[in-house]
Amino acid sequence: PEIADNEYDKLFKQLQLAEIEHPEWVTPDSPTQRVGSDLNSAFATVNHLVPMLSLDNSYNAADLLAWSKRAGDLAGDENLQYCVEPKFDGASISLIYENDQLLRSATRGDGLQGDDITLNSKRIRNLPLKAPFSTYGIAQIELRGEVLINKKAFEKLNEQYLEKGLPPLANPRNAAAGSLRIKDSTEVGRRNLEAFVYHVSYMQPSDAAGEKAIPQSHSEMLQMLWDCGFRSPVQELKLFGRIEDVVAWCNHFETVRDDLPYEIDGLVIKVNDLALQDQIGSTTHHPRWAIAYKFKARQAISVVRQVDFQVGRTGAVTPVAKLDPVPIGGVTVSSISIHNQDYISEKDLRIGDTVIIERAGDVIPQIVRVLPEKRNGTELKIDFPTHCPVCDSALYKEQDEAVWRCVNAECKAQVIEKIIHFVSKDAMDIRHLGEQQVRRFHELQLLADIPGIYTLNWDAVSQLEGYKQKSVENLRAAVDDSKRQPLHRLIYALGIRHVGETMAKTLARSVHHLLELRQKTLDDLMQLNDVGPKVAQSIVSFFAQIQNIEMLETLEKIGLNMKHDDTETNEQGIFSGKTFLFTGTLSTFKRSEAEAMVEAAGGSLLSGVSSKLNYLVAGEEAGSKLEKAGKIPSIRILTEKEFLNLMQYDKSD
Ligand code: IVH
Repeated sequence: PEIADNEYDKLFKQLQLAEIEHPEWVTPDSPTQRVGSDLNSAFATVNHLVPMLSLDNSYNAADLLAWSKRAGDLAGDENLQYCVEPKFDGASISLIYENDQLLRSATRGDGLQGDDITLNSKRIRNLPLKAPFSTYGIAQIELRGEVLINKKAFEKLNEQYLEKGLPPLANPRNAAAGSLRIKDSTEVGRRNLEAFVYHVSYMQPSDAAGEKAIPQSHSEMLQMLWDCGFRSPVQELKLFGRIEDVVAWCNHFETVRDDLPYEIDGLVIKVNDLALQDQIGSTTHHPRWAIAYKFKARQAISVVRQVDFQVGRTGAVTPVAKLDPVPIGGVTVSSISIHNQDYISEKDLRIGDTVIIERAGDVIPQIVRVLPEKRNGTELKIDFPTHCPVCDSALYKEQDEAVWRCVNAECKAQVIEKIIHFVSKDAMDIRHLGEQQVRRFHELQLLADIPGIYTLNWDAVSQLEGYKQKSVENLRAAVDDSKRQPLHRLIYALGIRHVGETMAKTLARSVHHLLELRQKTLDDLMQLNDVGPKVAQSIVSFFAQIQNIEMLETLEKIGLNMKHDDTETNEQGIFSGKTFLFTGTLSTFKRSEAEAMVEAAGGSLLSGVSSKLNYLVAGEEAGSKLEKAGKIPSIRILTEKEFLNLMQYDKSD
């Protein structure tokens, strides 16, 4: 997530309100018109019997009071009974039991259709494969629930990940959602998943009446599920007759949430009477008879001990507050970016201040506010430097910007950051030369600038600790290979301000040779796709600097590719702008052939799974890449057959 859940919800609410006032603004693709999609084509898509709705959110007493008033009005009854239960922070599932057997289970998907994960869900040990619904006279039933990985199992799983050298999973929610999409269901079994079941969305009576009566209230329904062998929240639920008591319970529960063995992100309040639920009804997005009470982001208190100023690749000077380390939401926080001078003044932040810090979900920690009452007079003002903390040249700030910059192109900090960017994966992708190695080589005066990468003293490198013959060879080969990278990668690698990967592609396509960019005026550049005055100015400034031109000439002499290959991209192709990755064994083509097909259709290939990937084509025995891709909802996973269908589409088009 780019923003915290509560910020997202605030924006979502604002949109909802705007759409109520202006129904003509509602577009079919408005976020209010759907509940989010996690469809994954590695699994069959199935229809839910009843759409899987989301929940409306509340954050305070006023929200809850307003909700209960409206629910009461719709029910025609002010004295509603409320059932309050945990809001499990996992992956939602839908389960269908027919004639007492688990028939099918599915992910939420887009709310109407989900991925069929029946096999995987059968590996969840606390999910009964058989349940005696017939004793209630129920022939078919659709249940809703959440699959979780408890905190202990999550820690264990992450230890295993670390042992295997894999990056740890961000949180139990992602771990549970990812686990459900693993293709190998025996591996799913090893994950110790648990399912909580909290809602009956559909019931079909059997011909014969059951010996037990079907419950008339939600809490009794949870009891029925429990009696049928499910882990429903009967132990956790609380019933209330007054919304004020619900509010008090929510406030209390928030203080003890960390005592639970599993993660919750709030409570869910439901009108308990099922007949009244029906009467109150639902929107296309959420039931009106229920509401989530979302807990605030986890907060902690710490003290700012010092402020460091870091100089980035573009010379931007960022103040970073160093704090007494505090654990918060599963990570220990000891330094936080405090952005810029305006931010510091706005918060009136001083060294020695006690501060409240917050980390919402996976979002990076931030300082919420200072506690001035904790001051004792020894706090120090944060003096923003007037000169670069690394090279001591005077800092410069553009009029409409908040950021101070070091504009000395030779500043050591910038030089190192520029080299790190140049070699990085999305730029020249020089493996075996990462941030650590760049810093080390620079420190040892083996690497002074970007061209220096190609004139490294290999004898000196092979003398270094950790560099055996093989690793020197690998590094040399990687450096050499990078000379042949396509032009757009080189342009991106130069780290020109405002020139990201896509812009680099646009620029590469506009020339035959990199140095032609030197001739382009602001107007020429602004004719190109997506190039505004800011980007154009930045490009013109880059090519106006003689040091940059000299560096490019040196790189060309060294043998770096500076030419744009016209056959490289096909803007009209159906895959133009799309990224692909193949994994596993393909049966119809060799992988290299399939890759060539993608490129011919205008697509590009990525070497690893990241959020930049659009399509993962999974052949037989696909392994960790498929698993990783399954955790990133924006990636479409295609079977070989689906990929071929897409290609056919290209031909017939
Ligand atoms: S009731 C119509 N109860 O939270 C039924 N949902 O953020 C609506 N969730 O989509 C769901 N714990 O996946 C319900 N005790 C609980 C829940 C719960 C977690 C999930 C559910 C929902 C999401 C909304």
